[in-house]
Amino acid sequence: PARPLIDRFGRRISYLRISVTDRCDFRCVYCMAEEMTFLPKKEILSFEEIEAIADAFIARGTTKIRLTGGEPLVRRDIMELVRRLGRHLGHGLDELTLTTNGSQLARHAGALHEAGIRRVNVSLDTLDTERFGAITRRGRLAPVLEGIAAAQAAGLAVKINMVAMRGINEDEIEPMMAWAHGRSMGLTLIEGMPLGEVGIDRVDRYLPLRELHDRLARRYTLTRLDQRTGGPARYVHVAETGGTLGFITPMSHNFCESCNRVRLTATGQLFLCLGQDDQVNLRDAWREGGAAALDAALDHAMAIKPKGHDFVLDRAHAQPALARHMSVTGG
Ligand code: GTP
Ligand code: 5AD
Ligand code: SF4
Repeated sequence: PARPLIDRFGRRISYLRISVTDRCDFRCVYCMAEEMTFLPKKEILSFEEIEAIADAFIARGTTKIRLTGGEPLVRRDIMELVRRLGRHLGHGLDELTLTTNGSQLARHAGALHEAGIRRVNVSLDTLDTERFGAITRRGRLAPVLEGIAAAQAAGLAVKINMVAMRGINEDEIEPMMAWAHGRSMGLTLIEGMPLGEVGIDRVDRYLPLRELHDRLARRYTLTRLDQRTGGPARYVHVAETGGTLGFITPMSHNFCESCNRVRLTATGQLFLCLGQDDQVNLRDAWREGGAAALDAALDHAMAIKPKGHDFVLDRAHAQPALARHMSVTGG
């Protein structure tokens, strides 16, 4: 592109994550509180506005867009947005994808593939029905498993995201890997990040993935892969299962120096870092000044994008540094 988005640390921004709703049909214990207040519907960007913002990003060199939430598939008529954005594939956009909890995946899988989506990340922290109910507070496992099967049947590559939690699903990491790899799916493990009050003790539940990696390395033959998906994960190949295992380590190993992404919330705020509050209001820019104002707002965003996150997890910080929940920015 003529004017790529480059921040003051020389990082090229080519990955836009769009949270299409802050709502979700689950209340995962590491993500949301039991009771959540959601944004009023009138505050939420229309599909026209989301597309205008996506256009501005694509014109400035964004090649990857991921839809997130909350749960993206609970937004009304979401497939209309997916189809609209899908038309940009091959015209600047290389990849359109989404991260979903899978609850509505079965009925959308075919249409997602038709719109040009080729892979999806599905959040799944346990394969045990009861535990699934406890972790998601109100989700059911069976529809998620059906959704995953439907996605694969529709030709979508599926990667499983699992937030690794000490004492909650630590014992399921190897079974989950066997299960996912046995079905030709990748598995990516994630360290829980302290965003918002959620109702579990994040200090007690923290499982450093470096420790886990070393534990697994004694039982499996892990070969480091150079493959990157544009996200923060580091991948290894597991010889025994033939599959790929990813590690996302915001707590134990900061990966911000290679950050290539920014996040649009459902109300049109552009968050410049998951772990900071710096933001630019793209909704007002668009409503007040159209494409030119939007373009200028992107320049401003590059000038204020922070160096990185500095999550702290210790008892001295009773309150999480960031009050907002993960569901606001979509992870
Ligand atoms: P791929 O395209 O498959 O690489 O996906 P992704 O890792 O970019 O996206 P996904 O939605 O699957 O995110 C997985 C986890 O990575 C989530 O828990 C995100 O919060 C976390 N994550 C993604 N980007 C960042 C980031 O810039 N900073 C931090 N701290 N975490 C991130
Ligand atoms: N820390 C780490 N990952 C989280 N996710 C949601 N909340 C958190 C958190 N506090 C994960 C979800 C999903 C991804 C987008 O973010 O499980 O896979
Ligand atoms: Fe919903 Fe995903 Fe948050 Fe769970 S992690 S409550 S599925 S947005």
